[in-house]
Amino acid sequence: MDTVLDYIRSHHDQYLAELVELLKIPSISSEKEHKGDMKTAAKALAARMKKAGLSGVKVIPTAGHPSVYGEWCKAGKDKPTVLVYGHYDVQPVDPLNLWKTPPFEPSVRPSTKVKGAKDLYARGAADDKGQLFIHLLAVEAHLKATGTLPVNVKFIFEGEEEIGSPNLVPLMKKHKALLKCDSVVVSDTPMFDYGKPSITYGLRGLSFMEVHVTGPNSDLHSGTFGGIAANPINVLCDIVAKLTDKRGKVAIPGFYDDVVKLTAAERKAYAALKVSDASFKRQLGVRELAGEQGYSAVERQSARPTLDVNGISGGYEGKGAKTVIASKAMAKISMRLVPNQDPKKIARLFTKRIKELAPRSVRVEVFDLHGGDPAMTALDNPATQAAMRALKKAFGKKVLTTREGGSIPIVADFQKILGAPTVLMGFGVPDENLHAPNEKLHLPNFFTGIEASAHYFTELAG
Ligand code: BES
Ligand code: MN
Ligand code: MN
Repeated sequence: MDTVLDYIRSHHDQYLAELVELLKIPSISSEKEHKGDMKTAAKALAARMKKAGLSGVKVIPTAGHPSVYGEWCKAGKDKPTVLVYGHYDVQPVDPLNLWKTPPFEPSVRPSTKVKGAKDLYARGAADDKGQLFIHLLAVEAHLKATGTLPVNVKFIFEGEEEIGSPNLVPLMKKHKALLKCDSVVVSDTPMFDYGKPSITYGLRGLSFMEVHVTGPNSDLHSGTFGGIAANPINVLCDIVAKLTDKRGKVAIPGFYDDVVKLTAAERKAYAALKVSDASFKRQLGVRELAGEQGYSAVERQSARPTLDVNGISGGYEGKGAKTVIASKAMAKISMRLVPNQDPKKIARLFTKRIKELAPRSVRVEVFDLHGGDPAMTALDNPATQAAMRALKKAFGKKVLTTREGGSIPIVADFQKILGAPTVLMGFGVPDENLHAPNEKLHLPNFFTGIEASAHYFTELAG
């Protein structure tokens, strides 16, 4: 192990330079004009896999953006096989004017939290290019320093996570033998805090909907027609307002039916994390927090379902005033789900409720954009235990176990299709600005993460 760690420590500059190159590729999966960039990123990863010493490297085409596969399976049949999953697609960058440096021109700046440390700012730095790169570099370090690896390793990097992984399940079903493994490891989550390495054992699911409201057949003068024509924006706001109640509960009949209640032991564990409302207020710059009554902030953030409007539009959105009644209004609404809520069922309940709330004066359409199952992973399986030992060795700190509020829809499918448990070993930080301007990767976590991954492969071999 020492030779592997020495190898890693003597290559930091090269690792950073290579990550910077990867981050320059604007691989935004949701924007059509970046289709070519997706291919470029996939090819770059395939080339990097080959350089690391992997075999069977290929870019696998899908109905959407390609996935990238590579493996090193020479450890022997008696050794476990681990599948590393990551996503090379990134979120859109708007609002661009709020970025201190351009999103695809990576910039190293002093950490705002840790004295003397540095952060790397770029779209995708933490989510998820920086994190997927960690495992590739750890595998390479083992191979270059010792000529071998203690376990069999397979990599699958996809380009559609941020749009709900629509083609990964078909790919997994088609390539089931290729992806066969004993466990999956995913680094696409934050650690509990700086200097607090953690294993995530729960993720929320998601149901993402769009609501279109159409009123009059054309935009109208609000003087001539105000008072007689239904205003789609007013109607939409009224509908949205009725989707949650004063206690912060989602007001859709049946919404909570399948929610698994927190046990007393879980609530005790949450309380032991000792996260104060004040620290959230400070981080967010707000006077009060919001959410469901009767639950603490950390519980609301990861173990309770929510409903949020992610975008709303209609009417005149330019500068100054314009007296108009718009013909159309639209809202994007997502619901975070917890075990055992089913995204398809929730989408149906949502649609039913919207139709009930819609007045006859407008036409309302509801679209189910995408969804994903919530996931819980067992803490007592050997892979998770190995990950906890690896994190302890690399970071030298007690390892926490946490549930996260975000979603990685494919995690539930690894269990269902491949029959393999997933270990969520994340190296992000809570203030990494995920999906927001000025996304960053805390560089000490990147470098120590490579060591943790290297330890993980050794610990997995037992
Ligand atoms: N890396 C995140 C998931 C995440 C974020 C987990 C924060 C835990 C904490 C992932 O890339 C992501 O953004 N997922 C989407 C899923 C969606 C688009 C289907 C999400 O959570 O919004
Ligand atoms: Mn991610
Ligand atoms: Mn993301």
